[in-house]
Amino acid sequence: MSQYDLIKDIAKYSFNDDKDQLIQRLNDLVEHSRRTKRTNFAIQLQSIIKDGIRRQELGGMSLYGSSKFKQLEEDKEIQELIIEKLTSDYKLSDLISSVETKRELSYFLKEQHSIDMLNTLDLPAANKVLLYGPSGCGKTLASYVIAGEMKRMMYVVNLGAIVSSKLGETSKNLSKLFKRASEEDSIIFLDEFDSLGKVRDYDQDHGEMKRVVNTILQLFDFLPKRTVVIAATNQINMIDEALIRRFDLSLKLDLPNKDQIKELVKNTLKNKKITFDNKTKANQIINKCIGLSYYIIQHTLLTALKRSLLDLEVDILPNKIIINTTVWNSLIEKEIQNRNSEY
Ligand SMILES: Nc1ncnc2c1ncn2[C@@H]1O[C@H](COP(=O)(O)OP(=O)(O)OP(=O)(O)O)[C@@H](O)[C@H]1O
Ligand SMILES: [Mg+2]
Repeated sequence: MSQYDLIKDIAKYSFNDDKDQLIQRLNDLVEHSRRTKRTNFAIQLQSIIKDGIRRQELGGMSLYGSSKFKQLEEDKEIQELIIEKLTSDYKLSDLISSVETKRELSYFLKEQHSIDMLNTLDLPAANKVLLYGPSGCGKTLASYVIAGEMKRMMYVVNLGAIVSSKLGETSKNLSKLFKRASEEDSIIFLDEFDSLGKVRDYDQDHGEMKRVVNTILQLFDFLPKRTVVIAATNQINMIDEALIRRFDLSLKLDLPNKDQIKELVKNTLKNKKITFDNKTKANQIINKCIGLSYYIIQHTLLTALKRSLLDLEVDILPNKIIINTTVWNSLIEKEIQNRNSEY
């Protein structure tokens, strides 16, 4: 199906309020964008879908339609836990980070790759990684990179969604999920891992939550060597010490510095005939971006790009697109104001 047909279907299903078909088509568009290498768009759309679904009741809804969930169909409990089951073709080069973080991630991947050789020496390969740091700095992206580099399927479990829905069957369902992932050699991505700590204050769910944490501790302790678990959080201080200790690797994905912002701008605009109307001003904006997340910087840049293009009021794509730095600047100013008002 072409991109235009997908967009027409998306419009149709949203007006008809047909959520299942809508989600199906949106996911087709994510897949299509991945195949056509519009990586950033694909990952951003996917996170919009994820957030949308999060707000609805989980009710066993799957992101990837029935065919990709075939094995899981009869298993309602697991279905309720799973938000996505996906494949990825992201590579390490898609993630901008410090040299140190890249090196750690690349050793993690190498250990898994050389698992048999390490085993002959009784050296266990690292298989549990905790990603932490502020929102929009690449935790989800890093999980896609691991899945892409390892060429494995990945189950994405949103622990926040579980905690805010019913806790009752969670321990049992998590055990089932871990078993299935290890049978399939899939990766498990536990997003919003801090949710495990959040219920501490609510007496009513306390016992159940404790059980979930204990289950996870056990699952981690008996995790088969080939099963990789990734957990992500932007509130690492909410997580129990005992849980943190179980990870082989904890990686902080932080706000970008000036060089990383430059790299992000370059990567975001690559393959397009795009320049800034004023390079000095663009550099000044880059300086202002320090303190904002990768996501916000990229999002404002893409918005400025679209607006600069639309302001030309032409139907045919010009040979060269010039980003109006005044537009980008005002979007960034707004973000800085928003950030300051949060403090
Ligand atoms: N380190 C990075 N390198 C390149 N692009 C990035 C990076 N971090 C974020 N981005 C861009 O921002 C988008 C959103 O990032 P991502 O979803 O990975 O953030 P996150 O840390 O998981 O945030 P949250 O805590 O809100 O879930 C990515 O799809 C990507 O386009
Ligand atoms: Mg995320």
